[in-house]
Amino acid sequence: MSNDLNTAFLSATPLPALLVDQSERIISANADAHALLGQHITGRHFATILRQPLVIEAIESSLRSKAPRETRHLSNDGARDTTYVVHCRYVNGIGAVQGGAVMVTFMDVTHLEHAEQMRRDFVANVSHELRTPLTALMGFIETLRGPARDDSQARDRFLKIMDDESNRMNRLVGDLLSLNRVESEERVRPKEEVDLTAQLASTLNSIRPLAESAGVDLNLVAPKAPLIVAGDPDQLQQVFTNLIENAIKYGGSGGVVDVSLTQVERDPAIRAPAIHIQIADKGPGIDSVHLPRLTERFYRGDNHRSRELGGTGLGLAIVKHIINRHRGRLRIESKLGQGTVFTVILPR
Ligand SMILES: Nc1ncnc2c1ncn2[C@@H]1O[C@H](COP(=O)(O)OP(=O)(O)OP(=O)(O)O)[C@@H](O)[C@H]1O
Ligand SMILES: [Mg+2]
Repeated sequence: MSNDLNTAFLSATPLPALLVDQSERIISANADAHALLGQHITGRHFATILRQPLVIEAIESSLRSKAPRETRHLSNDGARDTTYVVHCRYVNGIGAVQGGAVMVTFMDVTHLEHAEQMRRDFVANVSHELRTPLTALMGFIETLRGPARDDSQARDRFLKIMDDESNRMNRLVGDLLSLNRVESEERVRPKEEVDLTAQLASTLNSIRPLAESAGVDLNLVAPKAPLIVAGDPDQLQQVFTNLIENAIKYGGSGGVVDVSLTQVERDPAIRAPAIHIQIADKGPGIDSVHLPRLTERFYRGDNHRSRELGGTGLGLAIVKHIINRHRGRLRIESKLGQGTVFTVILPR
């Protein structure tokens, strides 16, 4: 096969790819390989370009045995690490000298590794979150069987704590199932018609007792007329409930939570006519270091306070998935000491 043909085949390969023949030189490389390894690599000894010992070993071994080899290559462009799976495959009958050449391809598996890492973190987080209340329950059961056996006052106090802890586990499992359901439906567009005006009013009514016991004024500013969107009513209710509950739980010290519903001609984020639902509190606000990660599962701004309030840290993750399913956006703006505004942007 001519060298032109080799180059043509390499340029049609959808991965960084190069050929190393029996003279141990790179005889051809495609544009992606140049982008990964540099412009002037053809004609060079492969070990001066690919310096990682595992990669050198794999190519050498494949050249000698003509058998396939596989290894990993790590690269860093200064900004981020990328992991490649490197395949060496022997091609007979090509190359400048007798004997053929090894085709080396680089497959970017960074996103797979990332997904795998997230899965591991998720399992670790769930176990940890479940273990904390479980440990408390086990401790109290032991105490009730032993030292506090005949102490009726202690028994009542412990049962109350056990009740709280088992509720917490129940909420956690409920939220996990909810997250799972929302995620699996994320690509299915909701079709029902939802009147946002009515939906918000009813959500506010059901949360009002919580606001009152927290001493928070809960206000709604919305048009009188119905505002219909295609949506999933239960899921939208879940979004508004969590955001308003959060505003009361974490921003309630500001004494007021304002909810508003407005129509905008065009929202730049979704590049379309939109509806904005804003939930604003005048509480302590959220440090900007937390903002980008707030919608991650189990992420809590103030870990201690959130747990104390019985939060699972899954609320905003669920909110984000629901809004994605509705092709909308969630915007979070916050100033320390001045409060927080969550804006749900839905396409009209
Ligand atoms: N209005 C707010 N003001 C200040 N911090 C907030 C506000 N809303 C959310 N947060 C922070 O964001 C974190 C994540 O919120 P999220 O709703 O995901 O979890 P949670 O409320 O702790 O648990 P859950 O909603 O599952 O009961 C909270 O723990 C809190 O630290
Ligand atoms: Mg919450």
